[in-house]
Amino acid sequence: MKETQHIAVMTQEVMHALRPQSGGLYIDGTLGGGTHSRELLKATAPDGRVLSLDIDPKALERARDQFSSDKNRWIGVEENFRNLSEVAKDNGFDPCDGIILDLGFSSDELTNKNKGLSFQIDGPLDMRFGPKSNEDGLTAAEIINSWSKNEIAQLLREYGEESFAAKIAEGIVKARKKDRIIGTLDLVSIIRNSVHKNYERGRINPATRTFQALRIAVNDELNALKHAIEGARKILKPGGRIAIISFHSLEDRIVKRAFRDSEDLEAVTKRPIIPSEEEIKHNTRSRSAKLRVAEKII
Ligand SMILES: C[S@@+](CC[C@H](N)C(=O)[O-])C[C@H]1O[C@@H](n2cnc3c(N)ncnc32)[C@H](O)[C@@H]1O
Repeated sequence: MKETQHIAVMTQEVMHALRPQSGGLYIDGTLGGGTHSRELLKATAPDGRVLSLDIDPKALERARDQFSSDKNRWIGVEENFRNLSEVAKDNGFDPCDGIILDLGFSSDELTNKNKGLSFQIDGPLDMRFGPKSNEDGLTAAEIINSWSKNEIAQLLREYGEESFAAKIAEGIVKARKKDRIIGTLDLVSIIRNSVHKNYERGRINPATRTFQALRIAVNDELNALKHAIEGARKILKPGGRIAIISFHSLEDRIVKRAFRDSEDLEAVTKRPIIPSEEEIKHNTRSRSAKLRVAEKII
């Protein structure tokens, strides 16, 4: 199996926040390339245990190889972190000492042409991270080809914060009258033809916000995050911590509000922790990352 290409974000900061101890029980809700799980395993040796979740079966396949020598301390399950408390209970991790959620997708998923997550690689308009992304099998192709113009525009506004939402929705509906839209690059060219030439003065690809919106909807990302935080409140031991890395303002807002409004979680730092300049230099993907940490209070 191919090694991961994913470079994990703020690993040291996450470890510092969770303060993993030997003998402790820790959950990595977003296994991805396995770096955070691996560091948790190292820091909790010789008898701490780590439960890792991912909805991408490939992430688990890779990790089963990577962690084969830690079989008695590591459990990997193909599960959605939306069901965090149930999965923790089923695997003996309720209560637990710490939880990490590093949201979004990994570089391995982005470059997997079958997932259709990249607007630079031709692939099917699927965008599900895995079979357990949503309950009804919704794909980006279904949204693009069967939702009404208004529904698409609203989605792009709400989840993409796209100011050309109406124009793009109009372009999509016009194009699909001729032919079903099936490929990522077909959608990219429809978007390009629908927006102003100087789109954001060339700072971002005009397809960025549309792809973000579709991905959030297909994977029901915001609801899954809300459920996961609710679950975390139930399963953390008093003094246990949850660390969440988000990559856009919609996610960060949910985390910030949940930590502020929850009666039994208290934010450890008022402001989010951001990557160092050094990290951003080595991993440009980290530039939009924000880490928030909360502690379970009694
Ligand atoms: C940014 S990567 C995590 C990288 C990881 N922290 C590491 O050290 O390499 C995010 C991962 O979370 C997974 N994921 C996204 N949403 C999920 C969900 N609702 N439940 C479980 N896994 C999810 C993705 O499939 C992806 O593998």
